[in-house]
Amino acid sequence: IKKVTTHQLQAMKERGEKISMLTAYDFSMAKLIDAAGVDIILVGDSASNVMAGHETTLPITLDQMIYHASSVIRAVSRAFVVVDIPFGSYQGNSSEALRSAIRIMKESGAHSVKMEGGAEIKESIVRVLSAGVPVMGHLGLTPQSIYKFGTYAVRAKEEEEAEKLIADAKLLEECGCYAIVLEKIPAELARKVSQEINIPTIGIGAGPDCDGQVLVMHDMLGINAEFKPRFLRQYADLGTVITNAVGHYIKDVKSGDFPNEKESY
Ligand code: KIV
Ligand code: NA
Repeated sequence: IKKVTTHQLQAMKERGEKISMLTAYDFSMAKLIDAAGVDIILVGDSASNVMAGHETTLPITLDQMIYHASSVIRAVSRAFVVVDIPFGSYQGNSSEALRSAIRIMKESGAHSVKMEGGAEIKESIVRVLSAGVPVMGHLGLTPQSIYKFGTYAVRAKEEEEAEKLIADAKLLEECGCYAIVLEKIPAELARKVSQEINIPTIGIGAGPDCDGQVLVMHDMLGINAEFKPRFLRQYADLGTVITNAVGHYIKDVKSGDFPNEKESY
């Protein structure tokens, strides 16, 4: 199988082919979505919410991200794998960022890292890129800054924040990032950014004109059924499938129907 590369992602933008991206945090799920043909797998720090049950992405550690990433990498044969550098592992200074990126690349075998922010973390991005590690940017509603925002509402609706976002996107492109996630911003702004920069934009809650789309796998599969923001399309109801299957199993155990003769030695 031909592996996805940053060059191919760039070529996809140039020929107008949309890029598909989903999160994964473990071997079994990563194997399924890689086989289905997703272009990019994100080992997101949303693992903090989805896997560990934290309210925010802030608590997850670099070691925990490396554990998730190495599980995913063992499953993947085609997709390009990007790993979030978690909160507190790159904001301090650029050598901390480089050290974290190198740990992720060496210890998990991932292909790339993602960091949240623009001008504030420019030095860290440049330093990581200088080591030959591809960097994906992330602008808009960056969840590691949730306590600064104080709300999960749409970002950059006002002109000042929109202008900073455009400037940050251009800066990330100039620094050498290969793609940028745009999270929860007006569709019109995402369209403008996608037109004005040459690297691919990957949207989540950022409208149809981004060069690609990303969703959290558990959300789009309906595993986490209470979470239903406007931007989410639910492609399956695995929550119900799992609950029903487990209910059926419990019933069969209680009634003595399971295991039967064929299922016994
Ligand atoms: O951690 C994550 O899942 C993400 C995506 C929502 C872009 O950063
Ligand atoms: Na993330």
